[in-house]
Amino acid sequence: MSFIGKGLNSFFKGKKHTVSNDADRSLPSHIDIIMDGNGRWAKNHNRPRTYGHSQGSAKFREITRYCDSIGLKYLTVYAFSTENWRRPQSEVAAIMKIFKEYMEEALSDFTNENIVIRFIGDRSPLAPELVDLMNRCEQATKDKTGLVCNIAVNYGGRQEIVFAAQRIAQKCLDGLISPSDITEDMISSHTYTAGQNDPDLIIRPSGEKRISNFLIWQSAYAEYYFDDILWPDYTVEALEEAISEFNKRNRRFGGI
Ligand code: IPE
Ligand code: IPE
Ligand code: MG
Repeated sequence: MSFIGKGLNSFFKGKKHTVSNDADRSLPSHIDIIMDGNGRWAKNHNRPRTYGHSQGSAKFREITRYCDSIGLKYLTVYAFSTENWRRPQSEVAAIMKIFKEYMEEALSDFTNENIVIRFIGDRSPLAPELVDLMNRCEQATKDKTGLVCNIAVNYGGRQEIVFAAQRIAQKCLDGLISPSDITEDMISSHTYTAGQNDPDLIIRPSGEKRISNFLIWQSAYAEYYFDDILWPDYTVEALEEAISEFNKRNRRFGGI
């Protein structure tokens, strides 16, 4: 693949699983990408928005493979938010069809890849056929040893915190814990990303400078990086630039 073996890729090779805040911080442990700008990209190319989503899906596959090739530990991508249901039904249906096609294609391709696929978000309103494919993708990749890729589908940061609160409240009602036992770690362990490092670097291309309800609990000390590239035009070089910039940041975590 043309995007392997260039730039930071060769630099990162063999530097697997760098942990956040280690002395060696050349590669963040957990990168998050808000894959935004598909609609504007399509408009710029005089194509329907759904074509932009297809191009965005192809870009996701390219970037995911690249992240695995450089030894990144966790990648979380925002694919569909709890607020995206507000879009026209035809656009939502087209996006769901693209998810389905991605998963069907991925299921036949997994033997060639070492990526663990996980889905985060509320699956309950999704079509049973889609949920079945999600479960099959997770099952087929759970023993892979490369990149862990969380795909956020019907994900909302506030919804995630509500779900965590409900589950913890139930444990209180069941007498398993008391309210004073509730800690930050306990809340983290009830999020979709339980057991994973918190995001180090959150990238939002497309020119928007907001978080749009993405990982609001986990991002307390994440570094943000914004650029203007519409997601279907995103490049490995743009990702490398974001990582280089991340490495220049001085993360103090409240210290000095
Ligand atoms: C991101 O691209 C994909 C989803 C939110 C599903 P958009 O569809 O938001 O693209 P813009 O922001 O309208 O250009
Ligand atoms: C955020 O993008 C969600 C995804 C990229 C999946 P949106 O395009 O939905 O966000 P807003 O509406 O610009 O905040
Ligand atoms: Mg958008």
